[in-house]
Amino acid sequence: MSRMRLEGHAALITGAGSGIGRATAELFAAEGAGVAILDRDGQAAESAASDISATGAEAHPVVADVSSAEEIARAVGRAARLLGRLDILYNNAGVGSSGSVVDTTEEDWDRCFAVNVKGTYLTSRAAIPHLESAGGGSIINQASVAALVGIQGFAAYCAAKGAVVSLTRAMAIDLAPVGIRVNALCPGTVYTPLMEPLMRERGGGSIERGLEITAAKYPIGRLGTPMEIARAALFLASDDSSFVTGTAFTADGGMTAQ
Ligand SMILES: NC(=O)c1ccc[n+]([C@@H]2O[C@H](COP(=O)([O-])OP(=O)(O)OC[C@H]3O[C@@H](n4cnc5c(N)ncnc54)[C@H](O)[C@@H]3O)[C@@H](O)[C@H]2O)c1
Repeated sequence: MSRMRLEGHAALITGAGSGIGRATAELFAAEGAGVAILDRDGQAAESAASDISATGAEAHPVVADVSSAEEIARAVGRAARLLGRLDILYNNAGVGSSGSVVDTTEEDWDRCFAVNVKGTYLTSRAAIPHLESAGGGSIINQASVAALVGIQGFAAYCAAKGAVVSLTRAMAIDLAPVGIRVNALCPGTVYTPLMEPLMRERGGGSIERGLEITAAKYPIGRLGTPMEIARAALFLASDDSSFVTGTAFTADGGMTAQ
């Protein structure tokens, strides 16, 4: 039997009620980790946690908005208490924002930065003392290919994910002495609820057409799946990546290699 790669570890995953975060929670749990499923959508968190618990793994729903300092401090404390420790933090919760600079409203800009950037800072700030008490660990910050190349009609999102990559480098340097590795994960397009509005817009009203146009931008000729991103997150979370810190790690079907 192959070894479980996260045996005895505890992971907090934000935005784990849907899409990439949910797939990652399933994979981490299958690899032996106890998982805290944090989401602002309580029903989604409950449903993911109960499906994972049904496999015999330990999973707890935790409800909070990552952009609220108060809510996230309480939620991270609760996750650490429920799991008994925290070794892995995946700052995955994120929201999209479409439009060029001219089309982006100030409200959309602020929301995009509040969740993607401030949420990463607030959740990390609350979780780092727990990772330190556990003797070190791994933090994964969800960025995107949008951090590495410009994407038409996605100004605020590109800027916010670029900030996540820069924050990751700073965190990696600050936290290396206490044994915490910090990496940004930069996925290419994966079809999830987050991508629906963009695909519809790109396809002139047809999601199918939007998906086709998007897939054509990928050398691999298709979009990714949530589980393909979860497997990259597993590498960054586990000791398999013990010498990897401060990177912007791509899982993008060759999109940024062009
Ligand atoms: N899908 C893609 O193509 C793609 C590509 C690159 C990066 N990403 C990034 O991956 C992450 C997950 O995206 P996804 O496609 O799985 O999206 P998704 O919409 O399927 O899931 C995101 C989850 O995060 C939760 N969430 C949103 N805002 C929150 C907040 N303020 N507090 C707590 N939870 C919150 C939502 O309720 C949802 O359950 C995001 O950071 C996204 O920017 C996605």
